[in-house]
Amino acid sequence: MDTLIYPPREIIEADRPPRPAALLSKSYRDRLIERGMLALYRWYTSRSQETRNWNVDLGFDWRNINQNFSPTTKQVLKGFFAVEQYVPDYVSKALDLVRRSHGRSHFQIRWGSEEEKHADTWENAVLFSRSQTPDQLEEYKFQLRKKEWELPWEDPLHLLLYTVFQERATQLNYINIGKIAAGQKAGFEADKCDVLSKVALTIATDEAAHYNFFLEAARLHMYYYPLETLEAIRDVVEHFAMPAQALMPDWREFFEAAYKAGVYGPREYARDVVAVGFKQFGIESRKSLEAGILKTRLIPDEEGQMRNSAIWETFDPDGIVEDVKRLYAKVQGFEDKYGMSELDPTHFVENPLWKAV
Ligand SMILES: [Fe+2]
Ligand SMILES: [Fe+2]
Repeated sequence: MDTLIYPPREIIEADRPPRPAALLSKSYRDRLIERGMLALYRWYTSRSQETRNWNVDLGFDWRNINQNFSPTTKQVLKGFFAVEQYVPDYVSKALDLVRRSHGRSHFQIRWGSEEEKHADTWENAVLFSRSQTPDQLEEYKFQLRKKEWELPWEDPLHLLLYTVFQERATQLNYINIGKIAAGQKAGFEADKCDVLSKVALTIATDEAAHYNFFLEAARLHMYYYPLETLEAIRDVVEHFAMPAQALMPDWREFFEAAYKAGVYGPREYARDVVAVGFKQFGIESRKSLEAGILKTRLIPDEEGQMRNSAIWETFDPDGIVEDVKRLYAKVQGFEDKYGMSELDPTHFVENPLWKAV
């Protein structure tokens, strides 16, 4: 399959808007996506600075974290620490893939700076709760960093979709450890801890922001490349695994502890990750997604575009176009705030082949 060029390799004069609206060329669609990603990244960064600029070391009362967590909770915290320990790989590998895109590559750096805080915060949580001694943690870190995380997908579109579901899964992990810390999980009442509760809530809020960014970015791709994006969703969900799974020496212990604590497992993945993501893409179920893609693929059109009406039954096109328009309204409002709207505003350009709404 001809994969997404991201951003276009060259800017063709004929592609410059306004263009007769029969078909948007691939190169023009790529430019529109790139422009939308850049605007979204600028909006995100400003908001991140204003609302989530928290301090890893001074922002929490580390001396007063619970020092008697159950072995299960200790193992879960250690696992969170381990997963976030590969931030340098998560950033550098993805950065290499999307380096030609201003919006995506700069976002990756910003995102990495937030993920790096998570790694250090979980390190503090593990150390101050006496879950591991400093020597044990140093040795564990050494073991982790001997290995290198590799990209789960080698094209930007699949990687984007993988990240949507991965961020949602991470957010869910931290919301659930927050429930333990709030004393709301049966069997884990003794693990109640206000410090851990604040940590979990703070990091889960970052993860929610990440999830939203990637989700909005994915819907933007879906608007201009519906079939390719639906296929990427199908592939990613089918092969999904949390990052670092193959790298952590104690992955099995972590997985079992997370399962036992009701933090994460196959049930949570199906119900709180896949089903939630699907709802936000307007997809009914895995079955309907698969069936819709198959039907759409039966009669490919010569332009590689979606003339086949089956595609519109695969998801909710009205919902997606509304979401995308909302995204543009949001970034345009932001550009108004600092005057970019007068200099070089970001415009929504309709995809003429989108189902009429
Ligand atoms: Fe994180
Ligand atoms: Fe994240």
